Amino acid sequence: MPAPITVVVTGASGFLGQRLVRALLARGTVGGPDGAQAPIGRIVMLDVSAPAGFDDPRIDIQVGDLADEAVVRRAIAHDTASVFHLAAVVSGQAEADFELGMRVNLDAARLLLEACRALGSVPRVMFTSSVAVYGGDLPALVDDRTPLDPQSSYGMQKAVAEMLLNDYARKGFVDGRVARLPTISVRPGRPNAAASSFASGIIREPLNREPAVCPVPPESRLWLLSPRKAIECLVALHDIPAAALGRARKVNLPGVSINVGEMVQTLARVAGPEYADYVRWERNPAIERIVCSWPAAWDVSRATELGLAGDADFAAIVRAYIEDDLHPTPAAAGRA
Ligand SMILES: NC(=O)c1ccc[n+]([C@@H]2O[C@H](COP(=O)([O-])OP(=O)(O)OC[C@H]3O[C@@H](n4cnc5c(N)ncnc54)[C@H](O)[C@@H]3O)[C@@H](O)[C@H]2O)c1
Repeated sequence: MPAPITVVVTGASGFLGQRLVRALLARGTVGGPDGAQAPIGRIVMLDVSAPAGFDDPRIDIQVGDLADEAVVRRAIAHDTASVFHLAAVVSGQAEADFELGMRVNLDAARLLLEACRALGSVPRVMFTSSVAVYGGDLPALVDDRTPLDPQSSYGMQKAVAEMLLNDYARKGFVDGRVARLPTISVRPGRPNAAASSFASGIIREPLNREPAVCPVPPESRLWLLSPRKAIECLVALHDIPAAALGRARKVNLPGVSINVGEMVQTLARVAGPEYADYVRWERNPAIERIVCSWPAAWDVSRATELGLAGDADFAAIVRAYIEDDLHPTPAAAGRA
């Protein structure tokens, strides 16, 4: 059995960060430097706030600002084998506060990559990017090689960070991988500052018997992935041997393409017709401009060839939320 390794997760107190850490703890192993599964000896959970409920002895909670070099250098210690870089300021907030977005989404990514380079041991770095890197004059089908033309500051920051990671990988400083995540739905809890927050709200609020506002017209198309499948894909992409990826390190994760009207119809079909009545349609031009600039038709054959699987359909996404968050089953505990 290979020696235990250290994994760093940034943004570890966030929605996906907490789920990723729980999934890693439940698995107990992850792809190690030589490609074989290695036991996880330590998981550094780095965030500006401490997560609750992580009392496993393998957990090392570090609270700090990732845009502070001393914090980054402390987290990326000599024994770091893998980094999952999830910390970010989400789309709506990065648009409203340009300086904050630049600091967290871009400056911190550079500090992190520099700390990894300084190790000299070529750690694996898994970066969560977004479909927001695309926009403008798009082809009918978007694939991994479609030129990037972000239409928001968040998308630009993700695109530049992707390029940084790509070059650090090309130079042999890190073994980098980029997962471009579809919009993750259904996100539990309260609405967040992401422009796409309604993509969860119009399902989550009705299922909790609360009103929801949909700020875009029913025909607006979204590209969605459940948190459950997102975490599975992140770990799987992390574990793929470098040779199988070659130079092409950026992968669009598989999603479900569906319009917002069909989402609400699916909710009614899965949970009951009365749930659709909780959704009020009220257009918000600022949200519509950002969300409708993202592509909705995708060719994800590369992700499929790499063995990355998404949800079967939107009904599966609704059911995943019910099983994992609304009425968690024992099986959900290890998953989320
Ligand atoms: N959820 C989605 O729909 C979605 C879609 C596409 C891409 N992504 C990307 O996936 C990643 C995780 O998303 P999420 O939904 O879990 O977001 P989240 O907002 O729930 O989590 C982000 C975490 O980053 C932390 N953070 C922010 N600034 C920080 C700083 N300066 N130093 C340290 N930590 C800091 C926050 O405290 C938060 O816990 C992000 O990179 C996001 O851009 C998410």
